[in-house]
Amino acid sequence: MKILVVGSGGREHAIAWKIAQSPRAEKIYCAPGNAGIAEYAECVDISAMDFDGLAAFAKEKEIDLTVIGMDDPLVGGIVDVFEKEGLRVFGPRKNAAILEGSKAFSKDLMKKYQIPTAAYETFSDPDGALNYLETAKFPIVLKADGLALGKGVLICNTLEEAKEGVKTIMLDKKFGSAGNEMVIEEFMTGREVSVLSFVDGKTIKTMSSAQDHKRAGDGDTGLNTGGMGNFSPSPFYTKEIDAFCQKHIYQATVDAMAAEGRPFQGVIFFGLMLTEEGPKVLEYNARFGDPEAQVVLPRMKTDIVDVFEACIDGTLDQVDLQFEDNACVCVVLASDGYPVAYEKGYPIHGLEKFKDADGYYCFHAGTKFKDGEIVTNGGRVLGITALGKNLKEARANAYKAVDWVDFDNKYYRHDIGKAIDEAPEA
Ligand code: AMP
Ligand code: GLY
Repeated sequence: MKILVVGSGGREHAIAWKIAQSPRAEKIYCAPGNAGIAEYAECVDISAMDFDGLAAFAKEKEIDLTVIGMDDPLVGGIVDVFEKEGLRVFGPRKNAAILEGSKAFSKDLMKKYQIPTAAYETFSDPDGALNYLETAKFPIVLKADGLALGKGVLICNTLEEAKEGVKTIMLDKKFGSAGNEMVIEEFMTGREVSVLSFVDGKTIKTMSSAQDHKRAGDGDTGLNTGGMGNFSPSPFYTKEIDAFCQKHIYQATVDAMAAEGRPFQGVIFFGLMLTEEGPKVLEYNARFGDPEAQVVLPRMKTDIVDVFEACIDGTLDQVDLQFEDNACVCVVLASDGYPVAYEKGYPIHGLEKFKDADGYYCFHAGTKFKDGEIVTNGGRVLGITALGKNLKEARANAYKAVDWVDFDNKYYRHDIGKAIDEAPEA
């Protein structure tokens, strides 16, 4: 099969790598891709938002399957464009990708179908939001309705901070039109878990769990980022919690979307908070997580091309989705200053060390070729990833491999997977 992957980050590198393991994959393309993805795929310089350009390319090259990695094209309706052209594509249609594209939509869906989540109110004008805050309990969480690169969430400890937050989102429009509507929700405490799943419209099969580290600095300090590293599985995600979520959250969400006339085919990423009252949904994403894909896919035994096709064909119930009984840790190497301002274009050294190192992966997030060298080209640069027989071993391996690579302004967190030490057994 000829397969096209759309996207250019560490997630798409992990997806392309996993597709390359499949005996069914003859030729892989990636648009636009990056310097690491180029090892498995021919990278083509078409933007992920150029739907017509991508569809024309897929037709010209007789692509058998296109896999959309990123949220923006999904929310924008790339799948509908491909389907209209008669092309096979993995990912939710626009009317289902709204599960990620609008927080107001997803909160209303959860309320209507009694899927556990934080209590909330939705506002489309700042005055209503400000009035509501006068009598609210703090801390409180403000969320821009639309896509904001994982940065449209403000946790406010006081009324003053929250008023400032309403101004930032709705008046100053710091997150653009994502802030036309806003959700204000109850602050929850507990451990966070990411659970990714494959969905074919009616059947859902979950992948092994993971835990992200969203803040930029050690000890969960600093600004929210796209994710600075993670590990899989989460030792806090027990069989009992899984059983509860399968019934009350995962299948309930798939059924709710179908009942709304928005059948979801693709990956649903459940961002969960394990609260004292039980698991609750923090957010939905309509795609693999980044860097969740980097720690989950190396542990997946099943041929991913078979799973993609089953999701498209509605035959996921016939797939036996399996994961290795091991662990994986990813430490993101970023450019110092991410997520605000940073320099790029620095040569990266040491990448060849991963070539023959079994169980070690260097997924590229922001890299490109320049004058025959691979240089940094983004805030998140590389996802240094390692397997181990358990989480502690995987973490030690990942941090060992962090030292193999070097570039100017290399920055990373030193405490990815610290929570592992607090787990009952890891
Ligand atoms: P989201 O983009 O909705 O996942 O939010 C980003 C991050 O903000 C989450 O990973 C949580 O750490 C935090 N967050 C979001 N909503 C809440 C909430 N209701 N209570 C506490 N923390 C939250
Ligand atoms: N790592 C979080 C996300 O992909 O949204």
